[in-house]
Amino acid sequence: MMVDFLVSRADLRQCRFDSPAAPTLEPGQVLLGIDKFALTANNVTYAVFGDAMSYWNFFPGPQGWGRVPVWGFANVLQSRHDEVAEGERVYGYLPMSTHLVVQPDRVADGSFLDGVAHRRPLPTPYQRYQNVSKLPNYNKATEDFHPLLVPLYATSFMIDDFLADNDLFGARSAILSSASSKTAIGVAFLLKRFRRCEVIGLTSKGNLAFCQKLGCYDRVVTYDQIATLDAKTPSVFVDMAGEGKVLHDVHHHFRDSLKHSAIVGASHWEKRSTQHGLPGPHPQFFFAPNQIKKRTIDWGPGQVDLKFAEVWQPVVDFAKTWMTIVPSAGQDAVKARYLSMLDGRASPTEGHMLSLR
Ligand SMILES: NC(=O)c1ccc[n+]([C@@H]2O[C@H](COP(=O)([O-])OP(=O)(O)OC[C@H]3O[C@@H](n4cnc5c(N)ncnc54)[C@H](OP(=O)(O)O)[C@@H]3O)[C@@H](O)[C@H]2O)c1
Repeated sequence: MMVDFLVSRADLRQCRFDSPAAPTLEPGQVLLGIDKFALTANNVTYAVFGDAMSYWNFFPGPQGWGRVPVWGFANVLQSRHDEVAEGERVYGYLPMSTHLVVQPDRVADGSFLDGVAHRRPLPTPYQRYQNVSKLPNYNKATEDFHPLLVPLYATSFMIDDFLADNDLFGARSAILSSASSKTAIGVAFLLKRFRRCEVIGLTSKGNLAFCQKLGCYDRVVTYDQIATLDAKTPSVFVDMAGEGKVLHDVHHHFRDSLKHSAIVGASHWEKRSTQHGLPGPHPQFFFAPNQIKKRTIDWGPGQVDLKFAEVWQPVVDFAKTWMTIVPSAGQDAVKARYLSMLDGRASPTEGHMLSLR
């Protein structure tokens, strides 16, 4: 049976399952059986910005309903494409479903793009499926780290590089909000590893002890303690929370000592609000593809991937010290995990791998 998890585009808390009819493959098409996928706050952000940033267009659902994009593994169940064999296992961007029909295009070196018309206008990384044998450092026993951390740590890696590339804008300290998020932990880990600056985490009361124990932050304070930070220290702000009040408080506290303010995420998605007339630098969207493009010119083709591969094992080794992979299967479990992620009830110590099979 085929199953899709659907979310109301008008109210992300309303969700249901649908059982579409089994497809008949056209020549050139491939049926993927979705094995498992990761769920983090990043996927909630895809849903929050589903309309604004076209995330709902990847895997269209029935009128008014969206299929939240996730990263995961799938097996080729049926193939009517000469270059893609049944039984292959691929990694890529998937819906929270049991199946997906793709139309492989540009098949080369163990990877292909889904050439289906509605995905063509979207960025290439979101169209690519890679045979697992081609994933850097792939190991079946630890494969869950890939969908859980690569999409996040690739951004962490480019944020660290962007700050280094700009000499930290003259700052001596980096302040990261949603310090308990995997993306922030990735940035903090790299800033520390390369001894770039002091690293300060901002988090909620419930996640303070977890962040303090991590060891990648020099100091962690709760959102209501921003005023206790030294306002004279030249600082950069990397905002994973996207909460209006936090942005307001950081800018009003540091004012001209704030050297750069980067908008990365919106994990506090229900507390967003536009801030006008903020003191200090104008907050700028951090767009990883821009930094990748710049570094591809600076370093040469393929070098960004190579440099990311160099830090991958150390970050996974670090993640093993604080993150437990939690597998869940079945419709009730997937719905419960999604709602808990949406409401911010998921523990930062857990990495959720889900399956609808
Ligand atoms: N721009 C990009 O390319 C890019 C790439 C990767 C990630 N991001 C963004 O970075 C953010 C973190 O993503 P992640 O996948 O790393 O997250 P994660 O590991 O799942 O982070 C969980 C943490 O986020 C906060 N949080 C999550 N949901 C919340 C809610 N409903 N209410 C309040 N706090 C909530 C809590 O941190 P605190 O208590 O510490 O606040 C929680 O411990 C997301 O907004 C994501 O979209 C952006």
